[in-house]
Amino acid sequence: MILREELLAVARQAAQRAYCPYSHFRVGAAVIAGGKTYTGVNIEISSYGLTLCAERSALAAAISDGAGPITQIAVACIDTPPDAPLNERTPCGACRQWLADLAPNTVIYIDGSPEDFTIRDLLPFAFGLPE
Ligand code: THU
Repeated sequence: MILREELLAVARQAAQRAYCPYSHFRVGAAVIAGGKTYTGVNIEISSYGLTLCAERSALAAAISDGAGPITQIAVACIDTPPDAPLNERTPCGACRQWLADLAPNTVIYIDGSPEDFTIRDLLPFAFGLPE
């Protein structure tokens, strides 16, 4: 199993490739699924509301590859100051729902936070359709 700090380093490295010409707020995510690593970055387009977050970008890469269960995800907001509060570096609401649906058992590492999270921590009472 890849270590927490190693996966956070991969997420920080991915964030360098963020495409965010409007916000200049670079985010990277790194996912472990079926033992393989997938990365994602935030991608902004001229119609701002259609922006894709780094977390969903990484989850889409893993799912698109037919990867096994997602067991770990690391998120890095590399433009957030080190002393900024946690809410300036945690996944947005849309990404939490993606995590609830696609990675319900993953551990979530947030760069700059000593605490690890589950999706139940971040999105209690998440919506879900019957299986
Ligand atoms: N962003 C992410 O990539 N992940 C999040 O969970 C929060 C926000 C991106 C979207 C946008 O490109 C930029 O950060 C500023 O909101």
